[in-house]
Amino acid sequence: MTTTHHYDILIIGSGTAGLTLALHMANDARVAVISKGQLEEGASLYAQGGISVVLDKTDSIQSHIDDTLKAGAGLCNEKTVRFTVEHARENIEWLIDQGVSFTRDGITSETYHLTQEGGHSHRRIIHSADATGREVETTLLDKAKHHPNIELLPFHIGIDLITSRKHLGQDENRALGCYVLDIKNNETKTLIAPITVLATGGAGKVYLYTSNPDVSTGDGIAMGWRAGCRIANMEFIQFHPTCLFHPQAKSFLISEALRGEGARLILANGERFMDRFHPQGELAPRDVVARAIDHEMKRLGHDCVYLDISHKPATFIKEHFPTIYKRCLSFGIDITKQAIPVVPAAHYTCGGIKTDLKGRTDIPGLYAIGETAHTGLHGANRMASNSILECLVFAKSAADDIKEQLPLTISAIVPHWDDSQVRPAKEAVAISHNWDELRRCMWNYVGIVRKTDRLYRAKQRLSLLQAEIREYYAQHHISPDLLELRNLADVAELIIRSALKRKESRGLHYILDYPNTDESKPPTETIIQAKVADHEALL
Ligand code: FAD
Ligand code: SIN
Repeated sequence: MTTTHHYDILIIGSGTAGLTLALHMANDARVAVISKGQLEEGASLYAQGGISVVLDKTDSIQSHIDDTLKAGAGLCNEKTVRFTVEHARENIEWLIDQGVSFTRDGITSETYHLTQEGGHSHRRIIHSADATGREVETTLLDKAKHHPNIELLPFHIGIDLITSRKHLGQDENRALGCYVLDIKNNETKTLIAPITVLATGGAGKVYLYTSNPDVSTGDGIAMGWRAGCRIANMEFIQFHPTCLFHPQAKSFLISEALRGEGARLILANGERFMDRFHPQGELAPRDVVARAIDHEMKRLGHDCVYLDISHKPATFIKEHFPTIYKRCLSFGIDITKQAIPVVPAAHYTCGGIKTDLKGRTDIPGLYAIGETAHTGLHGANRMASNSILECLVFAKSAADDIKEQLPLTISAIVPHWDDSQVRPAKEAVAISHNWDELRRCMWNYVGIVRKTDRLYRAKQRLSLLQAEIREYYAQHHISPDLLELRNLADVAELIIRSALKRKESRGLHYILDYPNTDESKPPTETIIQAKVADHEALL
């Protein structure tokens, strides 16, 4: 069975980016927000450290800009950086107006505690203890649930974007909405809207070890690429230096804010090592810290290193890091008394769908915001806590741009999803094996330290997997696992192709064949053209 539904704006993803846009738009338009799982599930819910914003009198906008540019290793778009940093304060104030509660500093009734993280030369991270994302996400979701113009559709997974070129055979490529699988009712729906927004988050799940939740499978990047968008800088995958290393702990992050408050990285024998790698020690940019840990683990043949904050008073630790304290304790680790075993894991997708300052993509009617987008803010390495800020700033600027275009309508008749030629799926094990193989291949061959021959090996294995996935997809009914696998394979292709294009090491992309940064010419973004063109060429 299949049904058609019309909205003014269709937002795919209910994280910080999607909900912020929905709330900015809801007084002017009928908005649908779909989410492939529970509405609150996504990277936003798990954000710990906080959101960067210049609030301290001794800090400055220019300093935040300079730190972001420095972390981005020459590849940030300076205009985007300035735009984001200059709009930070008003967007934080908007969050506070929505009811988000940030930790106070106890000095005055109006001032907030600001923590420190890697790459920042000032304390400028506003936070809600160590669960900032949960506070932001649940507050925004509660607001959205009570707005009469917002329809929230959990357990609805976007399959593919509907475009005028592909689905109506027109020359102009305009976004018209999305084909969606209603997971609970096993029904495909045609959701039509003159404005479609991809707010689907990042792609950490393409790697075997990640801090990301299960929903972070790069669906938006893959859908946008297939529909005709250019994708930028996918070689820059950020590995967070400190994820909890414990057999039962699935993707639990130990916030960089611990290091900001004095936690030390040590080896099993108690020796500190970060000073050997960078003058900023534990607070060096993330790429440096993750590589240093990777280096020490490989040098010594160890499974992990340790993060130690036990020299701080127990009351301070419990007050500032209650979530981390409790979670570690549940695994028998008392962080007020002992060091935490940690390893790096895939954390953040710096690249994504290329957008402008208004969140517009290459396809009219299609926007991309949040981790799915590539705005140019992060360059070759995202600075800590600049991500939620990007979600807020670009959701607002996209909303302003969309409002100027209203009212908009779609009169064309869009065809329904056609599954008349496919049969019920065979054993699900074929899909889960491919999931595992793909993620393992990416971890082993396209990880923190890269090498050209290993990238080619990954490319070869991936193309075999892609052929199998394509065949399976063409012949069977869709399922969420199959859709995600197809998207992960596209994202893996984008990462490998981008990594092969960059013949230098820069920021997060470290490749042994080219260990130095190429200073001979101005750095450029890595652009992969739309997949539609590739497909046409193949046919
Ligand atoms: P998400 O919050 O990931 O939301 C994506 C949404 O899209 C979800 O609702 C998902 O269900 C939906 N979705 C995906 N695919 C589909 C589909 N096909 N169909 C329908 N729905 C779909 N950044 C900071 O700035 N500060 C921090 O302190 C911080 N801490 C972090 C800690 C952790 C553990 C992690 C993983 C990330 C952290 N980050 C932090 C990064 C930051 O949380 C994310 O970049 C940001 O929250 C992304 O928000 P988003 O709205 O773009 O995506
Ligand atoms: C953290 O708390 O370490 C995560 C911050 C971020 O990813 O920006």
